[in-house]
Amino acid sequence: MNDNASTTALDADWWRQAAVYQIYPRSFADSNGDGMGDIAGVTSRIGYLSDLGIDAIWLSPFYPSALADGGYDVDDYRNVDPRLGTLEDFDAMVGAAHAANIKVIADVVPNHSSNRHEWFKAALAAAPGSPERARYHFFDGLGDGGELPPSDWPSHFGGPAWTRVTESAGENAGKPGQWYLHLFASEQPDLNWDNPEVREDFHTTLRFWADRGVDGFRVDVAHALVKDMRLPLRSKPSLEILVDDGTDALFDRDGVHEIYTGWRSVLNEYDPPRTAVAEAWVPFTHRRLRYAQPTGLGQAFNFDLLQAPFEPTAFRGIVARCLAEAEASGASTTWVFSNHDVVRHASRYSLPDGTDGAAQDAWLLSGGREPAGDPARGLRRARAATLFMLGLPGSAYLYQGEELGLFEAADLPRESLQDPTWFRTGNKVKGRDGCRVPLPWNASEENLGFGGSPWLPQPEWFADHAVSAQDGARDSTLEFYRSALAWRRTLQSAESLEWVSAPGDTLAHYRRPNGWAVLTNFGTAPAELPAGVDASKIVVASGAVAHLPAQVPGETTLWIAP
Ligand code: NOJ
Repeated sequence: MNDNASTTALDADWWRQAAVYQIYPRSFADSNGDGMGDIAGVTSRIGYLSDLGIDAIWLSPFYPSALADGGYDVDDYRNVDPRLGTLEDFDAMVGAAHAANIKVIADVVPNHSSNRHEWFKAALAAAPGSPERARYHFFDGLGDGGELPPSDWPSHFGGPAWTRVTESAGENAGKPGQWYLHLFASEQPDLNWDNPEVREDFHTTLRFWADRGVDGFRVDVAHALVKDMRLPLRSKPSLEILVDDGTDALFDRDGVHEIYTGWRSVLNEYDPPRTAVAEAWVPFTHRRLRYAQPTGLGQAFNFDLLQAPFEPTAFRGIVARCLAEAEASGASTTWVFSNHDVVRHASRYSLPDGTDGAAQDAWLLSGGREPAGDPARGLRRARAATLFMLGLPGSAYLYQGEELGLFEAADLPRESLQDPTWFRTGNKVKGRDGCRVPLPWNASEENLGFGGSPWLPQPEWFADHAVSAQDGARDSTLEFYRSALAWRRTLQSAESLEWVSAPGDTLAHYRRPNGWAVLTNFGTAPAELPAGVDASKIVVASGAVAHLPAQVPGETTLWIAP
């Protein structure tokens, strides 16, 4: 192998153990004062990201959009929302990121377009049975006059997954006509992936961004593209995956992998090949690893740790399973505790154990009051869990603001809420706005240094979490992340670990092949430092630790150098 070849090979593997920082562009940094974060705002903070020590940024959608679902309703897959900037701004941002050795991952949303996409407008203007309609899933309704939706499928955001249109062409012009499928909001019509034109167009989109220097893609709802739309449509009153053998009507059907084989050919046209990570909320079975195969997207999220109780047996079991799954797929595994769809983990961990799913929704609805949380404990456990995770083999996905120890903004004024879930459930489920509030950069500046008056209001307590309040402060969460991410580069080695047996039932202890060790005390009481652990080698701790400690404090993780 000559020098060039080895550089390429190394570069091609950059993603395997990368720390990837998710940017929700509208909430990151606002450069033009309109209250909405933008692409130039990202560029202006590349220095901050570089100091933080991440390897890549993943940008949630920045495409033209009416924001019916925070940008996951895409009007045009190959452009930048004018409120966020221009393609030139995008190029400048990629250039600045690359100059700082930071890779760029774009979000691609193939399951649905928006209802303002050219294709959907053409579909509405055309008659039933037309090629324009065949890019989506248009069906006649049930009942004598077609007045009932074609199936009982619900949408993910509440209400039915079907909306009826008023025809504008053909014999029924001006009358209620067909229905179209939208697994999410009605502004997000599902694309028909049986249509070769749809397939081809996404290849064009991938090349468009890869040509502009994008290093990888995050693939939204990757498991939903292929559906069984044969008549009569099957009943499926819940969007749970009811069978995990590939025969579910809507999710995880074998055909999706054929699509991703095609994508892989496109991604491999580039040097280094572009990466992709599937967002596929599928249960843990042998089927899940197919999303991560090198012949497909190459990597997949798993949300197992995110959903697990803070408890050593659960964490150990998940890690073992995910590493085995990664090995079987040929990918590296992924870890994530927070993203733009879930309650921030510092808040989740502040709630009484067992407050998950519907109980978290109820907590949000109560404005974060019921049940009462313990924020200090939440942050302590979040930092311990994060340090446990950052020591693991695989890619770590971090969500903007977690490095500031941000909690969920659970008490946003109702009139400010924007999540379609809030509207589609008749204000019964609050949704995800609380983790999307614009970042606090500077406690003494207007709008906490974000820019203009933010599109979601920043709670007063956000000031305490501002970058300016934490920068250089030894025990701050920001400095903790910086130090962990810096040491992580030394700690990462071959993609494996061995468990070290630990006394008691609250500790989890693992060692990486190069001798680095990670020790977490999941219990509340301090635990004796296990024999053989050299206290003088502790280089990062998730919480306050005595000098040369004899004990691991409760809910604390330590990194121990070889
Ligand atoms: C998953 C995205 O993460 C979420 O934010 C979005 O609402 C749905 N997919 C629909 O695109």
